[in-house]
Amino acid sequence: MRLRDCHNFHDFRRMARRRLPGPIFNYIDGAADDEVTYRRNTASFERCDLVPNVLRGVENVDLSVSVMGQKLALPVYCSPTALQRLFHHQGERAVAAAAGKYGTLYGVSSLGTVSLEEARRLCGGAPACYQFYFHKDRGLNRAMLERAKAAGIEVMMLTVDAITGGNRERDKRTGFSIPFKLTLGGMLQFALKPAWGINYLTHESFKLPQLDEHIDMGGGAMSIGQYFTDMLDPSMNWDDVAQMVRDWGGQFCLKGLMSVADAKRAAEIGCTGIVLSNHGGRQLDGSRTAFDQLAEIVDAVGDRIDVMIDGGVQRGTHVLKALSLGAKAVGVGRYYLFPLAAAGQAGVERALELMRLELERDMKLMGCTSIAQLSRANLRLR
Ligand code: LAC
Repeated sequence: MRLRDCHNFHDFRRMARRRLPGPIFNYIDGAADDEVTYRRNTASFERCDLVPNVLRGVENVDLSVSVMGQKLALPVYCSPTALQRLFHHQGERAVAAAAGKYGTLYGVSSLGTVSLEEARRLCGGAPACYQFYFHKDRGLNRAMLERAKAAGIEVMMLTVDAITGGNRERDKRTGFSIPFKLTLGGMLQFALKPAWGINYLTHESFKLPQLDEHIDMGGGAMSIGQYFTDMLDPSMNWDDVAQMVRDWGGQFCLKGLMSVADAKRAAEIGCTGIVLSNHGGRQLDGSRTAFDQLAEIVDAVGDRIDVMIDGGVQRGTHVLKALSLGAKAVGVGRYYLFPLAAAGQAGVERALELMRLELERDMKLMGCTSIAQLSRANLRLR
């Protein structure tokens, strides 16, 4: 299978599956419990229809949006995700560079495998958001905030749906852990996927540069679920976040909200944005999908803060539906991670290019030339 044979999410996923050791593929592909929310994330976009207009003169389409004080060339951004160098040796470098080429926002995770400073050097001036995980170690939290500020990160994005680890049964079965260790099973995977193994072993060793000055894993390994449960602070509350908003003093966004009450509270403490998200179905299974919850939240706080969503987005039309309901931008995760795993930077660029082409084509078919022309008038629930 070649990159040029990949025309959509499913093709990239298939190519990634062929290349990746099973535990790593399943870490990306998997979700919590019965993976109900994960499946519904994409299905929820199919419960409503676009109602196009015609004959409006659509030769030039402008896909740009302004969100969280940033001008983006696309209404789609690369959500922060962890551990990218496990998926492809270029990891976060590839994603930052590809986002830069497409003029959009990219995420740098506290659990990233390339330093935020290096990602920023490679992104061609594209804005970055820093995915902050609130650790028990308050000194570490302060140091991460200061470091992100010093690096000029444009948007602080605090993840609030990972207060404890989700039940990821695929990871339990495969033994997926960080740092990635070649167990006996891993060795077998290495033999089965030699191209991945050679790349992994011939590039710099696994690191978590946002954390490694502060966290000593004691030479051991733990699952991501265990990391969340052991290292993150379950006592984190609205007062802690209000303090963080003040300390940051810039664009500040909460990722992983779902309720109207929480959205209002976020606006009250001075957040400038929220991302409705269920963490790709990886935390609370049975949680509502961001798309289903979007209208309610936009109606409650959309005039005060920027509302974004992520989860299950695989098509340009999914993005247009979310924008029509009032989202300011839409995040993607697995949509660029499978291409990264499949082909590094070239894969991420192809995925973003396909998304850009889809958006442009779909906007023309909708009779729209700018994102502002999308509205609820062009959506109908089934
Ligand atoms: C995950 C975290 C690391 O979902 O975001 O695995």
